[in-house]
Amino acid sequence: MNYEWYPGHMTKAIRMMKEEISLVDLIIELLDARAPLSSRNPDIDDLGKNKFRLVILNKSDLADKNVTDKWKDYFKEKGIAVITMDARNRGSVRVVDSTVKEVCKEKIERDRKRGIKNRPVRAMVCGIPNVGKSTFINSFVGKSMAKTGNKPGVTKGKQWIRLSDSIELLDTPGILWPKIGDEQVGMRLATLGTINDNILDTQELAVKLIDYLKESYPGVLAERFSLSESDGSIKILENIALNRKALKKGEEPDYEKGASYLIDDFRCGRLGHISLEGPISEDGKE
Ligand code: G4P
Repeated sequence: MNYEWYPGHMTKAIRMMKEEISLVDLIIELLDARAPLSSRNPDIDDLGKNKFRLVILNKSDLADKNVTDKWKDYFKEKGIAVITMDARNRGSVRVVDSTVKEVCKEKIERDRKRGIKNRPVRAMVCGIPNVGKSTFINSFVGKSMAKTGNKPGVTKGKQWIRLSDSIELLDTPGILWPKIGDEQVGMRLATLGTINDNILDTQELAVKLIDYLKESYPGVLAERFSLSESDGSIKILENIALNRKALKKGEEPDYEKGASYLIDDFRCGRLGHISLEGPISEDGKE
């Protein structure tokens, strides 16, 4: 399967993002809690040098909590502030305000010593497509917040939103492109729905997901589709199609439809709380 896919407009997007990053104090980086490393573009470390950083493990409502806890430790050990979130849930987003104050306390303190009061921390949100950036901004901003108007140096049409006394947020997120270093990463991103489905071989993706679920979440497929997990993965895909009554003319199982059902079930959380990767320990184990 060919996962390589790099849009030409990215060079321009990166240039714009560099410009915007120069205007902010804090980068709020959204990752998918189900595959935080695969959904991370490591270029952000370079782009965000000397900036305060906050990582949000978003869609944590869909992830395996035990694995997410390990990821939290992983980022904390690297000295990066991290919180988990369901960006659709306003209550869960509220914690961001106090975390931002904590992350940027050095700057707030520095300003205070210089006699500058109430200068808000300027922040921008970034992440790969579909990770939940717009949802997060909408929940974070709420309806009542007024936009503060254009500021010099910001790309035309971009605005700062004053969220509280302490934060101002750029109203449009920075879009980072996923870095597809190897096939595993490609597979995880495709399963999450980051990569456009119509350039993928859905059946191959489904078979790999079946392999992974059998190994890491035994019993999940058996329960959802009433099948035996001791069968081979292609047979399991056939049984998923039969279970979902996805049939071609002549009662043949429709593998393609079966694959789509499975992937869709995963993406919507109907298979339960599942993570696609855990942090790798020093001995190379997840
Ligand atoms: P983006 O700006 O980063 O591209 O992502 P966007 O906010 O558009 O979110 C992509 C999809 O992910 C949306 O679903 C959104 O509702 C969903 N989403 C965002 N955050 C979370 C989360 O924390 N948990 C869960 N479970 N879902 C989340 P959609 O189906 O594409 O759109 P919609 O039908 O929900 O509007």
